[in-house]
Amino acid sequence: MSLSNNLNKIIIIDFGSQFTQLIARRVRELGIFSEIVSHKKVSFKALLKQNIGGIILSGGPLNVYEKNKFNFDKKILKLGKPILGICFGHQILSKMLGGKVKKSNHREFGLAEINKKSNSLLTKNFFDNKNKNDVWMSHADQVSKMPKNFKIVASTKNSKLTIIEDAKSKFYGVQFHPEVTHTKKGKILLKNFLFSICKMKKNWSSKDQKIKLIREIKDQVGKNKVICGLSGGVDSSVVAQLLSKAIGKNLTCIFVNNGLLRKNEETQVVETFKKRLKINLIYVNAEKEFINKLSNVTDPEKKRKIIGNLFIKIFERYAKKIKNVKFLAQGTLYPDLIESKSVTGSQTSKIKSHHNVGGLPKRMKLKLVEPLKFLFKDEVRKLGLELKLSKDIISRHPFPGPGLAIRMPGSITNEKIKVLKEADYLFINELKKTNLYHKIWQAYAALLPVKTVGVMGDNRTYEHICLLRAITSEDGMTADFYNFDKKFLQTISNKIINNIVGINRVVYDITSKPPSTIELE
Ligand code: XMP
Repeated sequence: MSLSNNLNKIIIIDFGSQFTQLIARRVRELGIFSEIVSHKKVSFKALLKQNIGGIILSGGPLNVYEKNKFNFDKKILKLGKPILGICFGHQILSKMLGGKVKKSNHREFGLAEINKKSNSLLTKNFFDNKNKNDVWMSHADQVSKMPKNFKIVASTKNSKLTIIEDAKSKFYGVQFHPEVTHTKKGKILLKNFLFSICKMKKNWSSKDQKIKLIREIKDQVGKNKVICGLSGGVDSSVVAQLLSKAIGKNLTCIFVNNGLLRKNEETQVVETFKKRLKINLIYVNAEKEFINKLSNVTDPEKKRKIIGNLFIKIFERYAKKIKNVKFLAQGTLYPDLIESKSVTGSQTSKIKSHHNVGGLPKRMKLKLVEPLKFLFKDEVRKLGLELKLSKDIISRHPFPGPGLAIRMPGSITNEKIKVLKEADYLFINELKKTNLYHKIWQAYAALLPVKTVGVMGDNRTYEHICLLRAITSEDGMTADFYNFDKKFLQTISNKIINNIVGINRVVYDITSKPPSTIELE
C-alpha cells in the first residue's frame, strides 16, 4: 500500500492558491502527513477509502459564483471530518452550507487587525492579551451571511465574518491566511485544528519517514534489482541511501562523469558512495565523449539536448550490463508531482530544457521507484541527515544536470573547463571560509565569452572575464542577488586573478530572477 494511503493524514483540497504548498508544509512541520488534491479530481468516494483526520480547503483565484470554473463534490461535507476553509475555502464552505458570499466593499490585501468575539478551540492561544491579532489577508470577496448553526469567532473592521465556526459539525472558516508567516501565530491556529479539533497524533518525523519508506521500497521491489542514476546532489544521494538500506546489493548506482562537474566532485562521489557507504557503484568516465560531442556547439538549447541525450545513451549502455534489472529509482519530489498536475492547467512557456539525472530513460521499460515523491526539499534534507549522509552532501548548493557547460556561454573547450573549475572552487571555498555559504541558496563562477585587456606586472594581458553569481531564494523559482560587502568582493577578485592564469577581470552579477535566470544558459 502506498505511503499516502496507510497514514492518518490531512487532505488539502487545492483551489489554485499560490499558498497551497505552504499549507501542506506547515501541516507537516507540525508533525502530520498532508496531501494535496485538486478540487477537480477529489471525490467523496475516493476520500471515503482513506485514513483522513481532517480536510483543509485552500484559497484560490476563483469566485464562488463562477459556474463551471470549479468542482466540489458536496458530499465531502458529509464525511463527518473536521473541515477548515481558508480564504476562498472559507467562502466556498460557507456557500455550500447555505451562507452567502459577495464582493467586499473594502478589498483587504496585507495585514489586518482582527478582534476576538467568542471562544473557540481553533483560536486557543491565538489572540494577544487585548484579544487582538494581526493576520494577512488577500481577498476581494467575503462571506456576507453565515450558514445556519455557525457563530462568529473573530471580526475585522471591514469583514465581520473573518473567523466563523460550527463547532458541533467541526466546520471552521477563516478569511485570512494562517499558513503565511505574516499572520502572527498562524501556526498555532493550524496546530489547534490538527490536534484539538481533528485529534490527530504526530506521525511525520524524519525517523517515521525513513522507516516507512524503507518498508515500502522492500514491498515494491521484492528481490528484484534496481538501478539509480547518481549525480552527487541531495535528491539522488538520499534515494540511493534509502534504497541501499532497503535492498542492499540489489541496488546498483551509475555515476556518469561528463567532465562538466565541479572540481573534485567525481572523487568525492566515489569516495562517499562506493568506499564509505559501500553502495554498488559503476563509475563511468565519459569526459572525452561529452567534450567531443560538444565541440563548437554554442547554442544553449543544443548544449542541453546533447548532454541530456548522451547521458541517457551512456546510462543505458551501462544499465544493460546489469542482469535482471526491473526498476529504475528516481528522485522525483512532491512539487514535481504537484506541478505536473497543475490545478489551473496553465502551460508555462518553456524557458530552458531542464535535464537532471532522473526521469529520462523511459524507453528502458523499467518500473519506477520514486521514494521521495511525497516529500518537499527541506524534508528530503532532514531525511538525508536521518540516513547519516554527511552535512556536506545534504546542504550543498544545487547544481544543474548540464553542469559547467551552461556556465560558459559560447564554445566549450578543455582549457575553459579547467579555468572555470578553479575559479568556482576558489569562490565556493571563500564563501565557506567566511561562513556565507549557508546563507546563500546557490553560488557559482562562470566564464563569459569575451576577452578583455588587462595589465599585470607591466605587461598587457588579454584574458577571460569571470562572472560570479550568488543568489538567495526559497525554491529557485525567483531569486535575489546576494549583497556582499566590498571587502569580500575585493578579496575574491584578487584571489581569482592572482591564482588563475586565464582570467584578468572579475564581475559580479547583480540581477534578480526574474528578469534573469539563475544559470546563464
Ligand atoms: P534557472 O537557470 O532556470 O535555474 O533559473 C533554476 C534552478 O535550476 C537549476 N537548473 C537545473 N537543474 N537540470 C537541473 O537539475 C537542469 O538542466 C537545470 N538547469 C537549471 C539551476 O542551477 C537553479 O538551481
